[in-house]
Amino acid sequence: MTGDTTVRGSVGVPMKRKEDPRFIQGKGHYVDDLSLPGMLYLSLVRSPYPHAELKGIDISEAMKVPGVVAVITGKDLEAAGLGWLPTFHGFDKQMVLAIGKVLFQYQEVAAVFAETRGAAVDGAEAVQVDYAPLPVVADPFTAKTDRVILRPDRESKTNHIFHWEVGDRDKTAQALDASPKRISQRIWFQRCHPAPLEPCGCVAHFDAMGRLQFYVTSQAPHVYRTALALVTGIPEDKIHVVSPDLGGGFGNKVPVYPGYVCAIVGALKIGRPVKWIETRTENLTSTGFARDYHMDVEIGATADGKVTALRVRTTADHGAFDAAADPSKYPAGLFGIVTGSYGFPVAHAEVDAYFTNKAPGGIAYRCSFRVTEASYAIERAMDILADELGIDAVELRRKNFVRKDQFPYPSALGFTYDSGDYHKTLDVALEKIGYQALLEEQKQKRAKGELMGIGISTFTEVVGAGPSKHFDILGIKMFDSAEIRIHPTGAGIVRTGTKSQGQGHETTWAQIVAEELGLDPQTIMVEEGDTDTAPYGLGTYASRSTPTAGAAIAMAARRVRERARKIAAHVLEVGEADVEWKDYAFQVKGVPTKRLTMKEVAFAAYTNPGQNEPGLEATQYYDPPNMTFPNGTYIAVVEIDRDTGEVRVRRFLAVDDCGVVINPMIVEGQIHGGLTEGFAIAFMQEIQYDKDGNNLNTNFTDYLVPTSLESPHWETANTVTPSPHHPIGAKGVGESPNVGSPAAFVNAVIDALSPLGVRHLDMPVTREKVWRAIRDAEARKGRA
Ligand code: CDP
Repeated sequence: MTGDTTVRGSVGVPMKRKEDPRFIQGKGHYVDDLSLPGMLYLSLVRSPYPHAELKGIDISEAMKVPGVVAVITGKDLEAAGLGWLPTFHGFDKQMVLAIGKVLFQYQEVAAVFAETRGAAVDGAEAVQVDYAPLPVVADPFTAKTDRVILRPDRESKTNHIFHWEVGDRDKTAQALDASPKRISQRIWFQRCHPAPLEPCGCVAHFDAMGRLQFYVTSQAPHVYRTALALVTGIPEDKIHVVSPDLGGGFGNKVPVYPGYVCAIVGALKIGRPVKWIETRTENLTSTGFARDYHMDVEIGATADGKVTALRVRTTADHGAFDAAADPSKYPAGLFGIVTGSYGFPVAHAEVDAYFTNKAPGGIAYRCSFRVTEASYAIERAMDILADELGIDAVELRRKNFVRKDQFPYPSALGFTYDSGDYHKTLDVALEKIGYQALLEEQKQKRAKGELMGIGISTFTEVVGAGPSKHFDILGIKMFDSAEIRIHPTGAGIVRTGTKSQGQGHETTWAQIVAEELGLDPQTIMVEEGDTDTAPYGLGTYASRSTPTAGAAIAMAARRVRERARKIAAHVLEVGEADVEWKDYAFQVKGVPTKRLTMKEVAFAAYTNPGQNEPGLEATQYYDPPNMTFPNGTYIAVVEIDRDTGEVRVRRFLAVDDCGVVINPMIVEGQIHGGLTEGFAIAFMQEIQYDKDGNNLNTNFTDYLVPTSLESPHWETANTVTPSPHHPIGAKGVGESPNVGSPAAFVNAVIDALSPLGVRHLDMPVTREKVWRAIRDAEARKGRA
């Protein structure tokens, strides 16, 4: 591609350059920075109605707007066979532009292409759409009744999408019935949105060779390439997907959105490049939502607190299309991790999902597919059980933890946990936070009527999707890959099928190569996100990068080392068996003075390889034998103002065990970021809909994102239990803080309110909600 392209320099200073504008990641190059000659802008017409018949679309006024070049509708796309696109987990399909009716507010209805962004927006406003409103289904419990069927396009005339279950239904029911103690609680994980810093966007362009050049905010560029080939019929070699810096993803940038398809269709039909960049409101109202799980949790236990059974029945709200990108065998994701860190002898979990008139939801927001929901449910429920039994929440957990000697541990819901030392992690956390002193302080405060709470969450995750025998997306197995090339001077490049969105792969991938090969990490370039150069992979989400690509890198580096050993033997004039890798260099066994560094061997690989294959590179595709199971103990300490309901998070400690840590600073950064998101979800974030299906949180004044002023101070520590099957013993970590923290916050709030008889509040635990709970409790007391 040629042209006058504005890119952003590494220090954020805009600069012009006349050259191939391929993005160099980590340098601050976003899709919106890309400008091509003759480029058009796309704006989408969106429905104000959550559910309405489309009586007609009149584009004549829009076409009169200066600068507007074309308008396309759902009918145009349908005629081209592109009316619907398959969603990633294969259970459903989604309209690109509305056909026949709209199913959620802000749904895409028409696409306007214009010379400038302003003209495209003006053109979209001028499109006249005649809607006939239909009855709205705003929650999954109404959807269950099937009084209004939302999706007549489907064979099955019901709003029910799927039923999924795991575990032993009968034995669980029997065990619950036989348990001396039992709790049950409906726990709702509200609908929330990943809200990445940069919204979604793309530039689509067919170059002089007729090849689609597609620059897009994608967490999984290779999957996009294959999906585009399958959906559009364009041969896969004629599609080049480049995913530049994303400005955050958090699962929001996994699905393929209508704007992308419209940009490609526009570029093809009009013959000019097309850019689509969504607005914040478009991002918050129409792209991948998360959670919205209504979970009925029951736990049975002995009188002294040994758990006997767990049953969870979930009603899930998936919105108008089932846009979750879950692996195809897992429609409810990895919700089976709901037994958590505890040795439940028997369990049963089931999920029933429904369509509603809301934006498509169910994506894995910083979560390994429904793991956050599961973790929140079990960690809240364990606190409720502790309350019921009158046992300290810490002691209840300690009593029921899977013990270190039980790993690899087969859980009642089918996972084999790889490793962990839950007791140790708990002990480190209790010691660091000063648990006993806090309990004493709480006692004194309670005596004075003050509300202080200590909340604990001892979660286990399942990340690293995944082993090909279980995991695929659209049939594509979820392995990942790495390619390493070492140049003659000992510098090198590593490319993977993953795609960083700010997780720092540029640093940690270079570290793995450097560690395995004894090279300087500063001289290892990391490149991801370009389907022409990177080996095939399934992308970055669900904390899968380290467990999959991280492993592939280590193994590819070991292959490079084996090739280098042969060349070293040639140069050192000994047999290969006489060469050993010691202290980051090859040396002749027993002769420490006869040694060669990898840098020296690299030079020889291109100048003096002998009979060996010249060059120094390797590619590795890695199919993990199991998932990894990171875990942690999080403790929150809160104080609540009785008069205003204000919750102050006084302390928050996160002790994580993600196996071997590649880079402590990056891991700490991941934890800080995820805790801040968990804090936001616990206390302030909910995408709310009114009973008529209107979205009430369309911008950042209604959907709150915490700044440094609101965010608590985070204390962190870690324990290390290596994963036994990962080549360097690492587990994923990126999602742990978002998975583990909401329960710690809410448990702390409920603990603070427990003297008032409050047993549960759903998130977000806003000041108003807390204030009402206090007021109601006081009113109850007054009446008593
Ligand atoms: O898939 P994603 O990159 O979001 O998650 P991850 O695999 O948990 O990795 C997040 C970041 O933390 C990456 O830069 C990892 O290499 C780094 N990390 C680490 O340094 N040590 C670990 N044990 C796990 C992750």
